Amino acid sequence: MKRTILITGGAGFIGSHVVRLFVNKYPDYMIVNMDKLTYAGNLENLADIEHKANYQFVRSDITNLQHINTLFHEYRFDGIIHLAAESHVDRSITNPLDFIHTNILGTVNLLNAAREKWKGHYAEKVFYHISTDEVFGSLDKEGFFTEMTAYDPRSPYSASKASSDHLVRAYHNTYGLPVIVSNCSNNYGPNQFPEKLIPLAINNIKNSQPIPVYGAGENIRDWLYVGDHARAIDLIFHKGKPGETYAIGGNNEWKNIDLIRLLCRLMDEKLNLPAGSSQKLIIFVTDRAGHDLRYAIDATKIKHELRWEPSLTFEQGLKLTVDWYMANEAWLRHVVSGDYANYYEQQYQQRGSLHGD
Ligand code: NAD
Ligand code: DAU
Repeated sequence: MKRTILITGGAGFIGSHVVRLFVNKYPDYMIVNMDKLTYAGNLENLADIEHKANYQFVRSDITNLQHINTLFHEYRFDGIIHLAAESHVDRSITNPLDFIHTNILGTVNLLNAAREKWKGHYAEKVFYHISTDEVFGSLDKEGFFTEMTAYDPRSPYSASKASSDHLVRAYHNTYGLPVIVSNCSNNYGPNQFPEKLIPLAINNIKNSQPIPVYGAGENIRDWLYVGDHARAIDLIFHKGKPGETYAIGGNNEWKNIDLIRLLCRLMDEKLNLPAGSSQKLIIFVTDRAGHDLRYAIDATKIKHELRWEPSLTFEQGLKLTVDWYMANEAWLRHVVSGDYANYYEQQYQQRGSLHGD
């Protein structure tokens, strides 16, 4: 094998798309997917590639330093793409400590292991940390986040991601570790856990359940199809410069309520329902605490330096997403049972319904 790459969090939503892309595109790389399999990790996401000779899954926890050191000793990684994290803002509001533990301590463990094991060989290595646009805070109606925007995280989730970004850059500045960071906007697509807005709405419409819109639905997100994020990660891993940051976005801003209405139209068509049926399921619920108003990325740098652009329009990507969730009933059924069901009760019972659409 030409290179051995560690991908952390590869059983999650974005991680599984990155693992699949690398395993299929680089048959001469050994891809080691290390994941704790929390409620968000699902090996069913990778059923199609699990028997490939250049793929290996290891169940482990990034907060367990001993495991990490053993893994580094066993595999002698050439590169790391670090996605493992607690990723849902609402969970971070209920339970901040899990986020501090995994996102900060877990990242430092990986940095320490890489620093130690790669000593004397930094020039051939890459530590690529996957981060989020939420670290930049909240925009008003105008302006965009760029690589130069000052950090201003406002939720326990984004504060934990911001801390991990700072630590990654500190290891570059202090020890010369060859790190790259990218900050991406909201992803959507197949395999996303139905606690996040788009798959939650699809699942609820499918089951004729209310679609909970926080506040007035005026918050804006910049949506990117997950396959396009995975392509950007591939480019950055291979062509990005150590010490650099890349902002990735869809150039695709939507108010939540407009997005939900578009999704309702697509679901009406898909389910052969009379026009307007799914929209009747919309309910407005108590807003998320500290809810960021708007995220939007200016992706000029990656566009110019690495020739990356989103490949799908939002309508195309959403249609693919709806088709995938409707064709993968078993996947959805499995993730909706168990932990997710309890969590869902907790989140939405206390919110209650304020009024209909
Ligand atoms: P996800 O929640 O779907 O997946 C996270 C994965 O990490 C899961 O497989 C989980 O089992 C694993 N994990 C969690 N804690 C772990 C631990 N202690 N040790 C090992 N594995 C652990 O998340 P996602 O949406 O795929 O996000 C992946 C990464 O991308 C995160 O770092 C997130 O901050 C970042 N990101 C996400 C988005 C988005 O829109 N989803 C956008 C930008 C950046
Ligand atoms: O911007 C990148 C971030 O995008 C990632 O770093 C996070 O990991 C990812 O979870 C996502 O964060 P958001 O909070 O933007 O995503 P979420 O799907 O939770 O919510 C999207 C918007 O929809 C947000 O404004 C809150 C709102 N919302 C969400 C849910 C779950 C609702 O109105 N109703 C809901 O039920």
